[in-house]
Amino acid sequence: MMSLDVLTVVGARPQFVKAYPVSRALRERHEETLVHTGQHYDELLSDVFFEELALPTPDYHLEVGSAPHAQQQATMMRRLDHVVAAEEPDAVLVYGDTNSTLAAALVAAKRGPAVVHVEAGLRSDNWEMPEEVNRVLTDHCADVCCAPSERAVENLRAEGITEGVSLTGDVMYDAVLAVRERAREQSTVLADLGVDPGEFVLATVHRAANTDDPDRLVEVVDGLLGVSLPVVLPAHPRTVAALHEHGLYERASACLHLCDPLGYLDFVRLVETAARVATDSGGVQKEAFYLETPCVTLRDETEWTETVDCGWNTLVGADAGEIVRALEAPFEASDHPPVYGDGDAATRVVDAVSELEAGVHARL
Ligand code: UD1
Ligand code: UDP
Repeated sequence: MMSLDVLTVVGARPQFVKAYPVSRALRERHEETLVHTGQHYDELLSDVFFEELALPTPDYHLEVGSAPHAQQQATMMRRLDHVVAAEEPDAVLVYGDTNSTLAAALVAAKRGPAVVHVEAGLRSDNWEMPEEVNRVLTDHCADVCCAPSERAVENLRAEGITEGVSLTGDVMYDAVLAVRERAREQSTVLADLGVDPGEFVLATVHRAANTDDPDRLVEVVDGLLGVSLPVVLPAHPRTVAALHEHGLYERASACLHLCDPLGYLDFVRLVETAARVATDSGGVQKEAFYLETPCVTLRDETEWTETVDCGWNTLVGADAGEIVRALEAPFEASDHPPVYGDGDAATRVVDAVSELEAGVHARL
């Protein structure tokens, strides 16, 4: 079997988690060059994942840092273009829906290598969301679309994308399964935070729609403050900045367990042991589902609709009363269908990449 040169581009926290199972599986059959764009650069948003998950050291670090989106993406594209020109990979592999994802997909589409999109076909149908722009455009650049669910395949079909689509399942499920036991054995986060299993709510907030809109942010904070259980909020730097900017930091930190972002093992341990998760994160909604913790999503819509359909996730938007009601409502255990695969998505992604060598994709 021919080994391909695959250039993988990561840049933001969830992409390090997604790369964990995929890089391992990919390197068994192909050559991987790893590029870190530098979209996330704080130690707790980046280095900690490379260390805990023993990810390969990036071959290139583009050090783009933060900037308005178009500028950040332009810088990424300029720097990535040199890397792609130098490496001449057969394929560029990207994850999810961040600015790093789209920048890499566009560079590859212009330079020639095949584009592999892991987590293809997700849709919120909210074009105001920067991630929706990134994911739709990336799917339309992609030669290989690795879809986590049947619905993602349908979403692609509805936009005319039928070639090169593989139903792989979700690589984040592989990641959770790979660390769950280690997290149980090694994490001391419950004792460190002074919370007991089943006796706290785990919250995360970082979505632009919530942090950049003071009206929504007040509602989210008030909703979390209204819950009777202790609430642990490992806060993204963007959220800390927004709480300060809108004069909410004192109020929030007086009552919530507001802490720095956590490493993956600690975070998985908290998701598994929380009574409820409250989040606007994509990845965290899924992790709550995988670890069978009911989730309340602080958004008006979700891409991970299956979690709502089967009763494990409730959409509440940014309304304090709704947030409290949903977090305090008794939970009726629901079915837990394997809508995002069986935990072997990384292997399926590599299978899809390997098909490129059989000449399925005209550009190779
Ligand atoms: C980005 C992704 C989002 C993803 C999230 C994962 C886009 C458009 N957004 O959002 O889809 O869910 O990552 O966490 O790609 N900052 C720091 N330290 C860092 C990185 C950022 O302090 O290491 C601060 C900066 O003030 C920056 C702000 O956070 O301006 C936002 O960072 P950015 O990468 O633009 O978006 P995220 O909110 O992190
Ligand atoms: N995560 C973490 N520590 C935290 C918060 C999140 O390790 O303090 C992990 C979480 O387990 C998931 C990923 O980060 O794997 C989700 O990233 P994020 O919520 O930033 O982005 P999204 O999934 O919304 O794009």
